[in-house]
Amino acid sequence: MNTKQIPESPYAPVTPAIADELRAIVGEQEGAARVIFDQPERMLDYAHDEVAGEAYAHMPEVVVKPRTAEEIAAIMHLANRERVPVTPRGAGSGLSCGAVPVYGGILLSLERMNRILEIDTENMLVVLEPGVVTNDINAAVEPHGLFYAGYPMSRETCFIGGNVAENAGGGRAIKYGVTGRYVLGLEVVLPTGEIVRLGGKRVKDVTGYDLLHLMVGSEGTLGIFTRVTLRLVPLPVARVVLLVPFTDVPAAVRAVPRIMTQGRVVPCSVEFMDRLSIQLTYDFLDERIPHPDTGALLLIEVDGNSPEQVETEYNTIVDLCLELGALDVFVGDSPVAERRIWRPRQSMAEALKAVCPEQSLEDVVVPLARIPDLVRALERLSRQYDVLIPCYGHAGDGNLHATVVKRPETGMVDWDEKLPSILTDLYETVAELGGTISGEHGVGAKRARYLPLVMDPALIGLQRRVKQAFDPLNILNPGKIFPPVDED
Ligand code: LAC
Ligand code: ZN
Repeated sequence: MNTKQIPESPYAPVTPAIADELRAIVGEQEGAARVIFDQPERMLDYAHDEVAGEAYAHMPEVVVKPRTAEEIAAIMHLANRERVPVTPRGAGSGLSCGAVPVYGGILLSLERMNRILEIDTENMLVVLEPGVVTNDINAAVEPHGLFYAGYPMSRETCFIGGNVAENAGGGRAIKYGVTGRYVLGLEVVLPTGEIVRLGGKRVKDVTGYDLLHLMVGSEGTLGIFTRVTLRLVPLPVARVVLLVPFTDVPAAVRAVPRIMTQGRVVPCSVEFMDRLSIQLTYDFLDERIPHPDTGALLLIEVDGNSPEQVETEYNTIVDLCLELGALDVFVGDSPVAERRIWRPRQSMAEALKAVCPEQSLEDVVVPLARIPDLVRALERLSRQYDVLIPCYGHAGDGNLHATVVKRPETGMVDWDEKLPSILTDLYETVAELGGTISGEHGVGAKRARYLPLVMDPALIGLQRRVKQAFDPLNILNPGKIFPPVDED
């Protein structure tokens, strides 16, 4: 959706007096740039996330970089008093415009809150500020024999606070689940400025409503996280990656449950690439496709607590895949070979951007067994609308990145006109297959107007009332998740 179509703002502008008050709250010092106001060129980076397209960007009126929960609480009190919207932002690596300040106002960046506060080995958990880069968690806990299993594909840049806000998924969900499974506690500044602590250093907790997990995946609309307590698991010591070409999508997809039910192995990743995405990413990397008859690829990773266990498990998978019609199996059992196998998958987003930057990267999710139907539907859509729709993603959980890419020769007017119809058609198809519009990236501003395609009005209404209970003036991250009121 074009964020510029959002109706006239019901909010007050950020005045120089408000900017001064923000400076007083965060203790502005010479050169520290804790508040950016009146300098549009320095705010450009805060106007967008990773969603491609100018239409999805929106400039904030002021950027503020607090350091404590108390500062954030004071900012929220000020924002409510002045009726100025606040948009929280982590690393800006999101893919649904969740951190884009669609009504301007205050952009609240958590980038300075980036400390690992505690590694508690006795309780197998870690306490973090929200701006810690996700990959850095593992670097810090690995020496203790511990592992944080959350694995968004952007882990080298994304922040843990954003992962919690989006309930990020990624490439290890089949075995380890998504971010929410690991969140034991949160300190949260509510939209109205109170600081609350949900959960804590305890694995079980049924005392009252599970507000902790209401916060997880709330896309920055119900609270701002200032402290995150995460559960850790024992560090796996061995890992092997397999690359398995199949002639067609149904054959590849059929193998996935069989690995678990017949092979009795739960891989940590089962990634999928269709023919078009394989061709585009291998071309981009100037590499040869593993087998000339490849119609679909599975990338399967197994990890475990001993090399022997992993070897037994991957041998089981190799035998089973060959029995089920795999063209070949390539084994990556050294760090170099592993990286080589993962590279085409990890380069996918970049490869598709190189085809044409005008595109819509989707993250629809369908029941695993319906993936072949989804891929067939994508072929129909690409013919009907004359676009490219390569499809890749997390086969293990049916969460696929169908990416609608403009043909380079198509004009922009034509593209802008047809994209909403393509997305509507895609989302309706996904709903018919028993799926939904976002498995891991979130609704954000990008998909808000499409929510009624997959959710009935009673449920949207209930969620609006939840939002209202937390944020009566709709100050925190407005314009996200919910369609404009007259559209549900
Ligand atoms: C991935 C991102 C796009 O899986 O979610 O690569
Ligand atoms: Zn993904």
